[in-house]
Amino acid sequence: MAGNITFTMIKPDAVRAGNIGAILKMINDAGFRIVAMELTRMSKAKAEKFYDIHKERPFYGELVDFMTSGPIVAAVLEKANAVEEFRKLIGATNPAQAAEGTIRKLFAASIGENAIHGADSDENALREANFHFATSSMFDKSGNCVG
Ligand code: GTP
Ligand code: MG
Repeated sequence: MAGNITFTMIKPDAVRAGNIGAILKMINDAGFRIVAMELTRMSKAKAEKFYDIHKERPFYGELVDFMTSGPIVAAVLEKANAVEEFRKLIGATNPAQAAEGTIRKLFAASIGENAIHGADSDENALREANFHFATSSMFDKSGNCVG
């Protein structure tokens, strides 16, 4: 049976562009309940660990740099069949291929800077939610995220 939760991050490009509110409205309108949510920053170490599965890919360094370039919104969302339903709402990784009306079609600029993350399996949703919310971010006195 499909699980009922997924994990998402509104990525730094969408936060910078002022799209948090519009994206959260789409998430609410699509019937997801917000179970947990945090506006924060990822440290380099945390982003490297989060994207560990992509470490052999040529874009890994770029991805880690991008995800640590500004604040993100991390959230756990609940809905029946959450992972699959949410992947439908966000659209294809490359916004040029994303369906009309999806979050990436509306708010993403490129395959790298693509506005939003959605977990791709029930197992990863749980792993990512627990990873994110169990390790709260630490900041130095200049406001840089260091842990
Ligand atoms: P996420 O929901 O963010 O995990 O995206 P996804 O599942 O649709 O794609 P995937 O897990 O394959 O890739 C993770 C992230 O790496 C993407 O969302 C992009 O931000 C980034 N990425 C993927 N392919 C490329 C690429 O060719 N170039 C760059 N710069 N980034 C990429
Ligand atoms: Mg993915």
